[in-house]
Amino acid sequence: MSAIAIHLPDERATEALGARLARALHGHAGGVVYLNGTLGAGKTTLVRGWLRALGVTGSIRSPTYTLIEPYLIDGRDWLHLDLYRLKSPDELDGLGLDDHSPTRCWWLVEWPECGVGHLPPPSLIIDLRAEDGARLAVIDTVALGEAFETALQNPAAT
Ligand SMILES: Nc1ncnc2c1ncn2[C@@H]1O[C@H](COP(=O)(O)OP(=O)(O)O)[C@@H](O)[C@H]1O
Ligand SMILES: [Mg+2]
Repeated sequence: MSAIAIHLPDERATEALGARLARALHGHAGGVVYLNGTLGAGKTTLVRGWLRALGVTGSIRSPTYTLIEPYLIDGRDWLHLDLYRLKSPDELDGLGLDDHSPTRCWWLVEWPECGVGHLPPPSLIIDLRAEDGARLAVIDTVALGEAFETALQNPAAT
């Protein structure tokens, strides 16, 4: 388990990190990304950069009330979850997520702490923190391994 810290001076840098993650994970069939950080930390901004890099057009917003926004990208499901308004973690079990196994699709999860005990374990954990008007991202690559870390840190992938 290792962590990578990346300074994000502005919104565009947060989107660019999302795009970099999309490229670094190219070829991985699926997994669960925990996006930690308080309200306004930049979680949705990161998801927007990530999905745009995969070719999604149109608006990309936090699914604050619907909790889940699915995207079909090149025949593969992507789920953007925002669990802030989940009343209790077991409410997750009734959302039909069993049809979207993270072995073959990606889940990008805002407020994973609201689903504790009912979410699959993370493949990647991203902490976003406010830092003097900018943001700091701390990325824990969990079990994705060295090839992913190299791809993420390779400037050619930005
Ligand atoms: N690196 C950054 N530096 C400064 N502001 C940022 C940065 N990344 C995102 N923002 C701003 O933070 C605000 C909240 O972002 P958002 O992605 O909606 O947060 P969250 O989903 O964590 O609640 C937006 O106005 C966005 O422009
Ligand atoms: Mg959000």
